[in-house]
Amino acid sequence: MEMNGRVAVVTGAASGIGLAIVERLVEEKMSVVMADIEAEALTQQAERLISAGAPVTPVVCDVADSDAIQQLKEKTLETYGAVHLLANNAGVASGQVNYKTPPAVWRWMVEVNILGVAYGISAFAPLMIEQGEGHIINTASEAGLASSALLGAYHATKYAVVGLSESLALELSGTGVGVSCLCPELVATRIFESTRNAPAELGFPPAQPVAIGDIEQWMQSTAMDPRDVAADVAHAVRANRFWILTHQVSHQRVRHRNEDLEVGRNPRPRLDRTE
Ligand SMILES: NC(=O)c1ccc[n+]([C@@H]2O[C@H](COP(=O)([O-])OP(=O)(O)OC[C@H]3O[C@@H](n4cnc5c(N)ncnc54)[C@H](O)[C@@H]3O)[C@@H](O)[C@H]2O)c1
Repeated sequence: MEMNGRVAVVTGAASGIGLAIVERLVEEKMSVVMADIEAEALTQQAERLISAGAPVTPVVCDVADSDAIQQLKEKTLETYGAVHLLANNAGVASGQVNYKTPPAVWRWMVEVNILGVAYGISAFAPLMIEQGEGHIINTASEAGLASSALLGAYHATKYAVVGLSESLALELSGTGVGVSCLCPELVATRIFESTRNAPAELGFPPAQPVAIGDIEQWMQSTAMDPRDVAADVAHAVRANRFWILTHQVSHQRVRHRNEDLEVGRNPRPRLDRTE
């Protein structure tokens, strides 16, 4: 899809991968509506970009609220008159023992990670189909393709985003609207501080800053720069490529899972990067 002069909506735009996608799309000469639940960070990032001359508009929006997504659509049309690209990127994570994950935490993750994507598609896909041009990027994760322990709710929601994206790509084939499914492994963002945006009634303690170096050790991984993820996204949009796997090791993990599936082997621990 041609990006120059077109309009994009990015959710989860105040931080990490979403913010990097916004910056990349601005470089590609797109106007961008930045949607995020975290008002302060959103205002700060949007003001920084606007003062550098970027055509961006911040909209505070909880993707788990379908009415808020409808308002996001209306605000976008009011401001720019059309929408050509949607990055359904907002997402949250909370590592928990599967059988100890409380119902309210399940609901939070399902509502943000799955329904947030679904509501975005319902609001914006019809506009793109009607204009015969557009591209939708759903941020899933490598965690939507291969599993590990202690992240059951996150895996469940990300597998759902992969399934939804595959189905959507089949459905929209021939309409002029492309679909991509973004499946990164570790990226240097604030995803490990996701509880900062959890509803207060979930009772999480205030989120503490997490050093990405500690996560790298825990995951035996090297965190990718979100700007490199955003570059992969831009290339995929241009080439109308569905899968965006940012890390080589993800291909190996998918291969292992598929082999296990084919021969009926039980799940095995996550493949180490060095294996
Ligand atoms: N960082 C990684 O290692 C990694 C790997 C794979 C996939 N992902 C996915 O990438 C996406 C972006 O996360 P990130 O890593 O940039 O984390 P991040 O925490 O830095 O950014 C996520 C953004 O989403 C916003 N957000 C949270 N809940 C929201 C809601 N209900 N409505 C609107 N906005 C909301 C946050 O305020 C934040 O600005 C997520 O879907 C995440 O699951 C991240």
